[in-house]
Amino acid sequence: MGRKTTTPGNGPKAPVTLTPAAGLAAAEPLRTLGWMRQAHQQQLALCGELEAIADSLPANIDRQQCLLAAARLEPLIRNVHHYEENTLFPWLRRRNAADDDLARTLHRLTSEHCEDACFAEELTEALLILGSGGGANMDAVGYMLRGFFEGLRRHIAFEREHLLGAYSDDEIVMPYPL
Ligand SMILES: [Fe+2]
Repeated sequence: MGRKTTTPGNGPKAPVTLTPAAGLAAAEPLRTLGWMRQAHQQQLALCGELEAIADSLPANIDRQQCLLAAARLEPLIRNVHHYEENTLFPWLRRRNAADDDLARTLHRLTSEHCEDACFAEELTEALLILGSGGGANMDAVGYMLRGFFEGLRRHIAFEREHLLGAYSDDEIVMPYPL
């Protein structure tokens, strides 16, 4: 099953502070789905920044913007993936144990996480080169940027509609195992 393009739902209203993945397990007794929606909002905001960088190529690059995006990209992606794969997805599996379609969907989304994590690593290197004024193949960087943020937007839209759509923001998601 390929990624589906869906219309994102209403996002959260307040910003969320995402902690580094390394400190997440110990600092996370439980979270609500509202947290997940806020995390999606942060990812979408970053997608907007990456799109602005792509649009600035090749002649109007804001180096500071590239460096800031490079610093945020991998920690944000890693943190959200950690939460989804270790808390949200197991919680959904437990609530829908007989749903084979959901099991396959979660497997596919986890595979997309792996692809996006690798992509984020490559993109971070490219952004650091742009931010430092180094030489880069602008066409290739633009292609990478657009491939990443377009894919991530589709991924988030799917998760919002098909994973979170049936639940309210204040739904408590218990870590696994209980
Ligand atoms: Fe995801």
